[in-house]
Amino acid sequence: MQQISRRGILAGTAALALARPAIAQGAPIKVGLMLPFSGTYAALGENIAAAFELYLQERDGRLGGRAVTLIRLDDESDPAKAPQNVNRLLERDGAEVLIGTVHSGVVMALVQAAREREVPLIIPNAGNVAATRELCAPSIFRSSFSNWQPAYGMGKALAAKGVKKAAWVTWDYAAGKESGEGFRDGLRAGGGDMTHLLTLAFPDTHFLPMLGVLSGLDVQAVGSFFAGGGAVQFVKDYAASGLREKFPLCGSGFLTEGVLTAQGAAAEGIQTALHYGDGLDNAKNTAFRAAFKQKTGRDADVYAVQGYDAGQMLAIGLDATKGDATAMKPMAAAIVAAKIDSPRGAFTLSPSHNPVQTIYLREATGSENRVIGVAADALADPGAGCNMSA
Ligand code: PHB
Repeated sequence: MQQISRRGILAGTAALALARPAIAQGAPIKVGLMLPFSGTYAALGENIAAAFELYLQERDGRLGGRAVTLIRLDDESDPAKAPQNVNRLLERDGAEVLIGTVHSGVVMALVQAAREREVPLIIPNAGNVAATRELCAPSIFRSSFSNWQPAYGMGKALAAKGVKKAAWVTWDYAAGKESGEGFRDGLRAGGGDMTHLLTLAFPDTHFLPMLGVLSGLDVQAVGSFFAGGGAVQFVKDYAASGLREKFPLCGSGFLTEGVLTAQGAAAEGIQTALHYGDGLDNAKNTAFRAAFKQKTGRDADVYAVQGYDAGQMLAIGLDATKGDATAMKPMAAAIVAAKIDSPRGAFTLSPSHNPVQTIYLREATGSENRVIGVAADALADPGAGCNMSA
């Protein structure tokens, strides 16, 4: 019988922990893809991953002259497991680049690792404002949005229609609260205000008590942040409660994004604001939507766009450094200087590395979030508190 001493095991573990990725040029580059593949945000993670892979396929699986090895990890949208999950990708799997994630609480562990270890991080969804405000860093980039941006556009569009008082209903975590701040700022910019904030714990879907409270409020409209499976349930419950006749429902576009078929008639006519929408007529979007449909059998949505653009941004950085992910300065310089040819329309990054982008006003019509106007043109997150040299 073979015996392994305790000391032997410890030595082995230490060697594993200290193992550093081979950065020899020509060796495959390991890219850690940390996303939710289960739970209320599972479909979002799947679309981000599929579109990221689509971009890689278009590049024959190579970036900066190196073949790419993708390592997928399901983060379950669970902030408590996030530090350990990030560690796994970096220490066990030897990831040289991190792509992730969807949930604004979970992303904080990725942000911390990117800051402390100078590992490049591209965030393909999570809108936590701190990542491109007070916790901004040369190694951190977003291909998506800040939570403030789409909701600001919605508030502004609502105020332009004469709404003076509106409520915001959402999950009680960073994405919900920060989008509420954007909604409030947008309303205020047009002479209105957010007068009530109602929350329930993430990812709870027991909406009935909250709908009861809403029905008694003195407001003209209700705005909301929900996404994925939770958004399906909220929109259905809101319609069933009869509240739509009393207060029109609107929100950050995630409310109806990728879920219209599941929401059915309950979503018809809901207006939302987002940096993407159906019917955007540009060549990149047409090609992207066809390729995504062919690969997955599904229609593209904002999550797919953000995953694809994370691929484009990583390619710009690695092409500039011939595949060296540790050459942070030239990588960052190339990404910041680039105009990213996105299906949403070309965009650049703000000084704090967040997309400066058009926020479209959309209306749910059948299975589409039809673009009906522009809620905010070339909108940058305020980026307050970002000091890149800190
Ligand atoms: C977030 O947690 O930042 C988040 C999650 C889902 C979305 C948008 C933002 O659709």
